[in-house]
Amino acid sequence: MSEQKNVTMEKIVSLCKRRGFVFPSSEIYGGFAAVYDFGPYGTELANNIKAAWWKAMVQENENIVGLDSSIFMHPRVWEASGHVGGFADPLTECRNCHTRSRVDHLLEDAGVFADEKMSEDEINKLMKENKDKIKCPKCGASDFSEAKKFNLLVKSNLGNFTGNWGDDPAYLRGETCQGIYINFKNVLDSTRQKIPFGIAQIGKAFRNEITARQFIFRKREFEQMEMQMFLAPKGAMDVYEDWRKRRWQYYLDLGIKKENLNWHEHENLVFYAKAAWDIEYKFPFGFKEMEGIHYRTDYDLSQHSKFSGKDLSYQDPVTGEKYMPHVVETSVGVDRTFLAVITEAYSEEKLEDGSERTVLKLPHRLAPIKLAVFPLLKNKAELVKKAREIYDNLKLQWMCEFDDNGNVGKRYRRQDEIGTPYCVTVDFDSLEKGTVTVRDRDSMKQETIQIEELETYLNEKLK
Ligand code: GAP
Repeated sequence: MSEQKNVTMEKIVSLCKRRGFVFPSSEIYGGFAAVYDFGPYGTELANNIKAAWWKAMVQENENIVGLDSSIFMHPRVWEASGHVGGFADPLTECRNCHTRSRVDHLLEDAGVFADEKMSEDEINKLMKENKDKIKCPKCGASDFSEAKKFNLLVKSNLGNFTGNWGDDPAYLRGETCQGIYINFKNVLDSTRQKIPFGIAQIGKAFRNEITARQFIFRKREFEQMEMQMFLAPKGAMDVYEDWRKRRWQYYLDLGIKKENLNWHEHENLVFYAKAAWDIEYKFPFGFKEMEGIHYRTDYDLSQHSKFSGKDLSYQDPVTGEKYMPHVVETSVGVDRTFLAVITEAYSEEKLEDGSERTVLKLPHRLAPIKLAVFPLLKNKAELVKKAREIYDNLKLQWMCEFDDNGNVGKRYRRQDEIGTPYCVTVDFDSLEKGTVTVRDRDSMKQETIQIEELETYLNEKLK
């Protein structure tokens, strides 16, 4: 058996569609740019990713608690956070084919770095200086309109019938962490947490991303897993460094190889931040950000104190010292983790008999389906009955599938492509000797197991 690791986006997109992981949104209406739906196996995989993150962040840390804040928040939240004023990407249009692109992406493709804080004038100057280097990704022309900054917040017309908060629209949240900041005092007052403590949240976020590209890497509706650690200023940098180590280890524990991960330090920090590093993953289109780990000082709570008029400072119950808590943030997308995990697991193998297989070598805990149960032959009622009996028992503990479609070889191929770790086949020996065959996804080796020992055996394998 020889393994090939030639993973392209085309192959990933095709597998995701073919096997029910990811569908383009509203496909029967021609699709809806940069919006995607998770299919049956994608939903399982995304749920398993979220469960792994929740376990590592909330369950295993006594001083981190969960939150589920609303997508809608008071419009002032987004002024305080700086999103209304500054959350914008520079947009340009190709004069030849009218394709719109993000200027920072065009410059990046040409090897030129554009700081996200640059004004429109500065961006346009940089575009002029690099005029011949930047090319339209669609037609290759180098003739672009003036860049304009375009705000990424998604507006809605929710509930403002009375004009209570002026003319501001209610935004769909652009990041989940603002819900954490505005609930800091609620959590503090309703739990026994004391600083240092963290609040973790998983939820949808929305951004009017200008360019729809790279599949689920950049979506307009996506899901974030964010954790804010609230800290005393003294020693906060040490906590930051500790989280950097922990988040790196988390990806190794998730089965991602060290060589496919990279640290990227932000070159130009926003004025309030003391440190900002990204963990990048080697996607098929190169190393790109998967998670950001930022030390944001006391900026967020200070801003919300200022805009809400409510004092969000903290008084240390032992020393009596009063201060505005500092924040260390870890922020990662479910969708980017999903894409990384599938890319990492994707494998094509040439088998000894000359045939080929595609297999997702997902870690057991992330696999959408843990076990598939097959009757050897679909038209032998006793085999089907026995296989159903085994399936009905195993499904109480694990996500299982019963499959009697096609021959066993085809069923193995299907389960390999969705990453099912074990397939249990019921054959005539099951009826005569009370045994089943268990086939391992990765080694493709088969073992004969007594039916009464099957659960113990699988518990050991899947633990
Ligand atoms: N609260 C900090 C924050 O939102 P960010 O770098 O804008 O920082 C954090 O986003 C993470 O959210 C990213 O590292 C990425 O994993 C994910 N993310 C951001 N925009 C995304 C998009 N348009 N589609 C999918 N995931 C996205």
